Amino acid sequence: MRGRFLSVILSAVSLPLVAAAVSSQAYTWKNVKIGGGGGFVPNIVFNPTQKGLAYARTDIGGAYRLNADDTWTPLLDFADVNHWNYWGVDALATDPVNTTRVYLATGMYTNSWDPNNGQILISTNYGATWTASPLPFKVGGNMPGRGVGERLAIDPNSNNILFFGARSGNGLWKSTDFGATWSKVSSFTNTGTYVPDPTDTSGYNSDKLGITWVTFDSTSGTSGKATPRIFVGVGNLGSTNVMVSNDAGSTWNAVAGQNSTYIPHKGVLSPATKTLYISYSNGAGPYDGSLGAVMKYNITSGVWTDITPVSGGNLYFGFGGLAIDAQHPNTIMVAALNSWWPDGQIFRSIDGGVTWSPLWSWGVYPAINKFYSYVDTLAPWLGPDNTVTTLGTLQIGWMMEGLSIDPFDSNHWLYGTGATILGGRDLLKWDTTHNVTLESLADGIEETAVTALVSPPVGPPLLSGVGDIEGFVHNSLTVAPATNFLNPSWSTTSDIDYAGNKPTNFVRIGSGTGSQQIALSFDSGTTWSIDYGAPITLSGGKVALSANADTVLWRTGSSGVQVSQYTNAFTVVSSLPSDAQIASDKVNNSVFYGASGSKFYVSVDGGHTFTSPSGLGSSKSPQKIVVNPSVTGDVWVSTDVGIFHSVNSGTTFTQLPGITQAWAIALGAPAKAGGYPAIFAAAVLGTTTGYFRSDDAGVNWVQINDAAHGFAAPGSNPVSGDPRIYGRVYIGTNGRGIFYGDAAGAAPPPSTTAKPTTTSAIPSTTLLSTTSSSAIVKTTTTTSRGTPTTTSPAPTGTGVQGAYGQCGGQGWTGPTVCVSGYKCTYSNPYYSQCIPA
Ligand SMILES: *[C@@H]1O[C@H](CO)[C@@H](O)[C@H](O)[C@H]1NC(C)=O
Ligand SMILES: *[C@@H]1O[C@H](CO)[C@@H](O)[C@H](O)[C@H]1NC(C)=O
Ligand SMILES: *[C@@H]1O[C@H](CO)[C@@H](O)[C@H](O)[C@H]1NC(C)=O
Ligand SMILES: *[C@@H]1O[C@H](CO)[C@@H](O)[C@H](O)[C@H]1NC(C)=O
Ligand SMILES: *[C@@H]1O[C@H](CO)[C@@H](O)[C@H](O)[C@H]1NC(C)=O
Repeated sequence: MRGRFLSVILSAVSLPLVAAAVSSQAYTWKNVKIGGGGGFVPNIVFNPTQKGLAYARTDIGGAYRLNADDTWTPLLDFADVNHWNYWGVDALATDPVNTTRVYLATGMYTNSWDPNNGQILISTNYGATWTASPLPFKVGGNMPGRGVGERLAIDPNSNNILFFGARSGNGLWKSTDFGATWSKVSSFTNTGTYVPDPTDTSGYNSDKLGITWVTFDSTSGTSGKATPRIFVGVGNLGSTNVMVSNDAGSTWNAVAGQNSTYIPHKGVLSPATKTLYISYSNGAGPYDGSLGAVMKYNITSGVWTDITPVSGGNLYFGFGGLAIDAQHPNTIMVAALNSWWPDGQIFRSIDGGVTWSPLWSWGVYPAINKFYSYVDTLAPWLGPDNTVTTLGTLQIGWMMEGLSIDPFDSNHWLYGTGATILGGRDLLKWDTTHNVTLESLADGIEETAVTALVSPPVGPPLLSGVGDIEGFVHNSLTVAPATNFLNPSWSTTSDIDYAGNKPTNFVRIGSGTGSQQIALSFDSGTTWSIDYGAPITLSGGKVALSANADTVLWRTGSSGVQVSQYTNAFTVVSSLPSDAQIASDKVNNSVFYGASGSKFYVSVDGGHTFTSPSGLGSSKSPQKIVVNPSVTGDVWVSTDVGIFHSVNSGTTFTQLPGITQAWAIALGAPAKAGGYPAIFAAAVLGTTTGYFRSDDAGVNWVQINDAAHGFAAPGSNPVSGDPRIYGRVYIGTNGRGIFYGDAAGAAPPPSTTAKPTTTSAIPSTTLLSTTSSSAIVKTTTTTSRGTPTTTSPAPTGTGVQGAYGQCGGQGWTGPTVCVSGYKCTYSNPYYSQCIPA
């Protein structure tokens, strides 16, 4: 059980260590507000019988419950290193009989990327606490086809009965004890053969989509008895893919007269009209879909009707999200999957699909009539005018597999996109004025995958690198930023660093292609300029900026380590391995560090050459190098075997006792002015895997995360200590955005912008039962001294510069005078150019 925090008595000598209790410190954890979600929301599920009860599921960031004020409360923040795959939610079911109950099918990948089987998570209190029922196969919350469903369903007449449609050909499963135990429905043999790409050797696109949805026909039964009629959608393209049972799941048949051309994504039943509506697409989704259909099936007559809203050249997408207005059962809506241009599309019908109206239509080309106004105050970076260049022209969205109308409020609708939840509260205006208000309604959902965090000593409290949506300058922790990184923008930021002596200077790198993927800022991230010294072939990896901000060391994604000074062309650093972790000294502009395998490396010539003066014990994979911002050569390295510390630029290292594995490590403000920086680490300390802080240079540690805050897999979580506020730490997650934590007792200064915080009825969520891991205690090692090398200074130059040549910039030693007719013009601190006078 979490809560009994075990650790070791830390010793300065190399002796076997004795396990003893270590203290923990209460921390307050909150999200750094990005707002608007920031990732794919596969579905939003309303409870059909309790007003206002709804949940959203995500593919990598767990599930959320909707609050009355339109905010969302996260439900799976307890997931820790041992339960990281809980954040992949492949299906969700809210109980129509006993509405306190909610179930999640969780697991991240069905291929080797996730070694763990999946589980059904069961809550009897709206998601406040959970118990896990393990499944004997994997569940793929972040696999292709994660937007179909729901493939987990509760019998509306006998809520002890659940069915779950598995992936990978594992078939249909049934529970009769509220999800506690599961058994395979052996009579269900049409388990789905469709795979998106059979040639994908990773297993990601070559696994079977499996069963796509399970839908009970409540009208076929009576309360208290198992519902006889159950429809099941199957991941087949071109062969029978809608099955039905009329005996509560004992025997199954193909629904007669079906058209199996496309894959059924959603099967939504209108009890009032005894009609089953199905949306189809020709791929598994969520990114694909170039053809599809919408069908309705009259359960009474057995008649199928094709009600696809568009045809011919206007049909260049499949269909995903499908909603019925429970109060107006002939009102249905369906979302295109995917209309990538000029925008996503949603259709609405008030006559059961006979006629449809769209959310936009073409005007006089290229103008479009938007039958909506757009409100993004909760996440302005989403951009009414497409300020997020990576989102292109799409405002309505894409990957729209989840579309729902509140069963108690015909005006209230929500849909998920690849980046957020949109919706509104005036939907009936679609039918009167044909003009609705489309709002960003993902407040409280923080779903970003965070790649980098820097809390600098001056300026904004935090800069972040984020997957898919660039990253942000966080001027406030509580108000969503107005924009993400722009000019340039590259979708995913791989890393960020700042210059120790000039801490308004930053470098960031992107992971795109076809353009320079490195940018510099001299104003704390407000504006950026492309570093044209970078070839367009380099991207990704890690980056370090020298103390005076003139040199960039770049461990690229695929072309080894490279270095550039004064934005000159990058040159290969052959003396540092291509997988090295890198860091800059924060005081001495010439010094960089590297670590690879068991070796530590130092450069004293601005990153051009590295030597390896020392080793990192038995490390096989260093994780992070962090350098004391005010003491040159004071270096910490986290590794797969623990934490190493050097006070002499890596000439010798001491391994901390008791810590047997570490991921992120960071330094923050000291406990007392002038004291040693607080150290934060994600580590295995004794037998506890968690997040720890030391105020005495690594001798004593307190655990700072708790049973309600696990942060999932630590290996991908960046951490940054706040250099201005003692105790404050930022933890980036892979799917739950950025958290900041403040120590209980420490009084953080008031945030600059006042905005009321919303609280939910249930403050935190926990797992009722879990397992603990064991760890091996390692001892201290000291490494031997080595001799660093030095190189000669940069060349000098004189004379007059020609047209368009460089004529200035930090470190520039060439001509500063331009030929006649040209004037030396400042471009950035590193570059002035001769341009026509
Ligand atoms: C609903 O479920 C809860 C939790 O199991 C249980 O305590 C309660 O009695 C149930 N209510 C009904 C009406 O069945
Ligand atoms: C089945 O659906 C496809 C795609 O919508 C359509 O082209 C085809 O004509 C349909 N077949 C029948 C028999 O209706
Ligand atoms: C379904 O078919 C039955 C029998 O033909 C008919 O009475 C009923 O009106 C149909 N339902 C709808 C919604 O059209
Ligand atoms: C819908 O309303 C908005 C806001 O008033 C307006 O900008 C837009 O032009 C309207 N759409 C159409 C097609 O008239
Ligand atoms: C920076 O480090 C190098 C190598 O150790 C040293 O030669 C140089 O004097 C240092 N510079 C400063 C300003 O301390």
